[in-house]
Amino acid sequence: MALDPERYVIGDDGLWVEKVGSWAREKLDIVADYVQITSAARRRFAHNNPAFIDVFSGPGRSLVRSDGAFIDGSPVAAFKQGLNSLQPFSTIHISDLEPSLLTAATERLEKLNAPVVATPGPAAQAIEQIVSSLNPHGLHFALLDPHNLGSLSFSIIKRLAKLKSVDILVHVSVLDLQRNTDLYSSELQEQFDEFAPGWRQHVSREQNLVAFRAALISYWSDLLEGVSMPRARHEQLIRGEANQRLYWLMLLSKHPLAHELWEKITSVARQPRMLF
Ligand SMILES: C[S@@+](CC[C@H](N)C(=O)[O-])C[C@H]1O[C@@H](n2cnc3c(N)ncnc32)[C@H](O)[C@@H]1O
Repeated sequence: MALDPERYVIGDDGLWVEKVGSWAREKLDIVADYVQITSAARRRFAHNNPAFIDVFSGPGRSLVRSDGAFIDGSPVAAFKQGLNSLQPFSTIHISDLEPSLLTAATERLEKLNAPVVATPGPAAQAIEQIVSSLNPHGLHFALLDPHNLGSLSFSIIKRLAKLKSVDILVHVSVLDLQRNTDLYSSELQEQFDEFAPGWRQHVSREQNLVAFRAALISYWSDLLEGVSMPRARHEQLIRGEANQRLYWLMLLSKHPLAHELWEKITSVARQPRMLF
């Protein structure tokens, strides 16, 4: 499949890059900060091969539309930060639905001598293979960064949740939540079936859109609790260049320490109330 030239170009190193908004830097800073702040804990698990898992990896490098700068994509940024922390990752597991993007990310990581393992997407399938290859006693970190809610299949979280120790940073698209509920057709809401299976039995459609969105996220939070992966109390809102709300970054973890560390790297004071 040919890549959309509006979204992808060949970058400064001859491989595909994704064109992104400047807000991508904020996301990557949070990923890097979390890799850094958890490195002392990861060191205690060093003999159990802690892995970074990025099943919506993209090509590993991006072009910021507004200023023309090339920046590392998430798998490369996490790998590099791991190297600079107290404990690098033993494996960098990546996947992407688009084979040419996965190839680009793999090549970039190989050039850095990263211990990369690439698994073809879609993410919901790749995660099975990845999780079964992980050390079950390791402290792993997964980033789930899809553009839309439909790709954020709950089965991915459920599979990861079977691991003893994994922290998950997840991108929940506010834009998508709004777009799909605004259109409010039951057909389009099939998007939500993957994201929050069973929602139709638990979330009433007989309420206004704002209440509906809040109820859907609340139901999703219950699903998370059900697989023992509660989300942190605060989420980081990522805004676009016109200050529009784009997505929330949310941390999911069984471990209280992960929640404490998350609070340290995200400014609770800056968090606006979660508006739907
Ligand atoms: C937001 S981009 C990832 C950006 C990357 N995390 C970064 O920060 O550099 C989302 C990626 O998910 C991929 N994608 C979309 N649906 C997918 C699916 N179902 N399974 C795996 N990858 C998917 C897209 O091809 C795209 O590369």
